[in-house]
Amino acid sequence: MIKKAVLASLLSAIGLTGAATAAELNIYSARHYQTDEQLYGNFTKQTGIKINRIEAKEDELLERVRTEGANSPADIFITVDASRLAKADELGIFQPVKSATLEARIPAHLRADNWFSYSTRARIIVFNPEMVKAEQVQTYEQLAEPALKGQVCTRSGSHPYNLSLGAAMIKHNGAEATEKWASGIVANFARAPKGGDTDQIRAVAAGECGVAIANSYYFARLMNSNKPEDQAVIAKVKAVWPNQATWGTHINVSGAGMLKHAPNKEAAVKFLEYLASDEAQTYFANGNNEWPAVPGVKVDNAALNKLGEFKADTLPIGELAATVAEAQRIYDRAGYR
Ligand SMILES: [Fe+2]
Repeated sequence: MIKKAVLASLLSAIGLTGAATAAELNIYSARHYQTDEQLYGNFTKQTGIKINRIEAKEDELLERVRTEGANSPADIFITVDASRLAKADELGIFQPVKSATLEARIPAHLRADNWFSYSTRARIIVFNPEMVKAEQVQTYEQLAEPALKGQVCTRSGSHPYNLSLGAAMIKHNGAEATEKWASGIVANFARAPKGGDTDQIRAVAAGECGVAIANSYYFARLMNSNKPEDQAVIAKVKAVWPNQATWGTHINVSGAGMLKHAPNKEAAVKFLEYLASDEAQTYFANGNNEWPAVPGVKVDNAALNKLGEFKADTLPIGELAATVAEAQRIYDRAGYR
């Protein structure tokens, strides 16, 4: 016979007591980088709140939240690109969070109604100086000019990164000019869109295209890479901060929000506020060669230091996200697929 006290201590040792369970937080994340362990581990260290993470592709996670409905254990949803955050928001999965900390830390243009940006990335122009002149590729608009016929490479027009850029173009130049621009890009293709942004950079280095558009972190990743083949690519190409004389380089974000049926609301708000702390900002941004969303937080990243500063577009991220659907319709009409 096992005595009652012994049984209780055995049960307690394996965590099967009637005592209140420790605070937990459930995160669904479509973003995964090598600094994540420190990012999440330090939150648990600071707050005692245990984090359960499910990482999967964006669509899988959204489908999961939808089918789980009111029973979803998810508290926080993290993903990249304003257009994806907007899509999640349209599905009605978020609930607004009121936080003085977040309002003070995250600049207004990087906050949407139901989610917050935690890092920024720039959509840059990458060119091969043996094929095109630097002065030909200083703006997004120039990429549609006839002088660059047969030179331009991009990933698919339906990809969120290009749709967000299209949305920024609409906000700054108008719908009509953006449609003309998209048609010009299509007319200038060196090849039909294929692959991701890194593939475009490699194609520029290989001379298959004279110029391409890519997110800054792909470029920085190649810059920071020790692989000789990556260094060879970087040696062949140059990066441009587009539109410095006009509306600034288009930037996009990684972001997160609290889910409508979050069972651990208090922990969720704590986590969203933690993500805006200096330390978390460093992990979150540096892990993917991005910039912190909170002004004044510096990351020690050789490639980003080398790339230096630039004038970024300050278009409110919520407005940008709301314009993505229009960008898709314009791209469809222009045949930018
Ligand atoms: Fe990406």
